[in-house]
Amino acid sequence: MDLSPLRSLGNTSVIGLQWGDEGKGKIVDLLTEHFDFAIRWNGGSNAGHSVKVADKKYAFHLIPSAILRPTCTSVIANGVVIDPIKLLEEIDALVGQGVRIEDNLRISCNANIVFPYHKLQDTLSETHMGGSKIGTTGRGIGPCYADKANRSTAIRLIDILDDARLKEKLPRVVSEKNAIFKALYNAEPIDWQPIFEQYRSCGEQLRPYVTDTTRLLHTALKAGKRLLFEGANAVLLDLDHGTFPFVTSSNCGTGLSVGTGLPGKAVNSTIGIVKAYSTRVGSGPFPTEQNNPIGDRIRERGHEYGTTTGRPRRCGYLDAVALRYTAAISGTTAISLMLLDVLSTFDELKIATAYKIHDQTTDWFPSDALELAQAEPIYETLPGWPDDITAVTSFDQLPKNALAYIAAIEKHVGLPVRIASVGAARHQTLIR
Ligand code: GDP
Ligand code: IMO
Ligand code: MG
Repeated sequence: MDLSPLRSLGNTSVIGLQWGDEGKGKIVDLLTEHFDFAIRWNGGSNAGHSVKVADKKYAFHLIPSAILRPTCTSVIANGVVIDPIKLLEEIDALVGQGVRIEDNLRISCNANIVFPYHKLQDTLSETHMGGSKIGTTGRGIGPCYADKANRSTAIRLIDILDDARLKEKLPRVVSEKNAIFKALYNAEPIDWQPIFEQYRSCGEQLRPYVTDTTRLLHTALKAGKRLLFEGANAVLLDLDHGTFPFVTSSNCGTGLSVGTGLPGKAVNSTIGIVKAYSTRVGSGPFPTEQNNPIGDRIRERGHEYGTTTGRPRRCGYLDAVALRYTAAISGTTAISLMLLDVLSTFDELKIATAYKIHDQTTDWFPSDALELAQAEPIYETLPGWPDDITAVTSFDQLPKNALAYIAAIEKHVGLPVRIASVGAARHQTLIR
């Protein structure tokens, strides 16, 4: 794969511009052949990034997809919330698949830790919300970030490496959680001691990877190493700028500096990862959703079932209103258009170019989810293409109508499409 057209990108951030699952993992895996460091800086095991190399499939939740590249150091920075049980399972599974995970994985001592009571709270709260639930992944992400913001109930990786620190914090936090869960949900109390034993053991197993990643990254930056930042989740799930409250609990479109300790100017380019259509998992407004045979056909052709929870993803047409907004929020400089092959065989395709809300036309993405739920998309309709494009190796080999679809995206979003993906494998990638 000739990546030379992308050499000028410099330190690069990879961010999903929709509701997640755009194919970030595939692009990170591909690009990191030429990067020295790949850094995860937000989210937790709610993320699921699948990567296909030859006939093997790898699933990543906490570890950067770059771990498959022996010359690249993978970093889990301070902004990530780590479930150490899930992380160790992930390490075991990857090592079992023949992946080397030694000093090429570095984990921030300041990352906050997901405990069983976070996952319990996530589930209890969602059940309690009934029809208004967020539709979370149940991985304890929201409660863990809430404790981080709360400070007095936060427990960091460095704390589980030190029995005295863990013993000072854990019983107090568990007793506080028990009181709250009993009062709110009439839940059975949980015991801190088995958690203490399990987490100190996890800490011991993770100790060799733990470091001050902020220092590591600043040293790398000074030495002129090439850095790639792997975003998890996506801009429309950003806690501040997404479709609140149907979002995740980190700043997945904007929080790179917070999550790494590096200044924003450390990033030279941002590649916005865009699926050629739209999908969403969980609740919340989705203006271009096709809850009909068109959406079903996209789901089946694109195998749109969650990597993390296996839930069927909601599917719909591409939304250029949302993309203009998310590209602006994230500072995207170029688009990587994914899963284009899934759209083959559709007679026609639609792209939302504006919304009608209460009889007013707008081309700006509404900031209020209730208003967004009222939005009726105004579509541009384009002809589809019957051809299978999975064996195409360059942009100029694409069918005329596929090129016209890409040109329409460039026009409506106002950014170049530099990468197009026509299959899950590394070689099924077109670059210009
Ligand atoms: P991420 O969370 O953004 O990394 O995306 P996911 O891994 O959750 O979902 C993307 C899925 O699409 C994965 O199963 C990828 O292997 C697959 N994929 C990525 N690019 C392409 C593509 O161009 N075509 C097809 N058919 N599948 C792709
Ligand atoms: P990747 O990195 C798709 C969604 C959940 C839910 C909402 C809140 O694979 O693109 P949470 O468990 O984070 O509190 O759930 O956010 N969500 C994702 N959807 N891909 C993801 O990650 C997601 N991460 C969170 O489905 O609607
Ligand atoms: Mg995913």
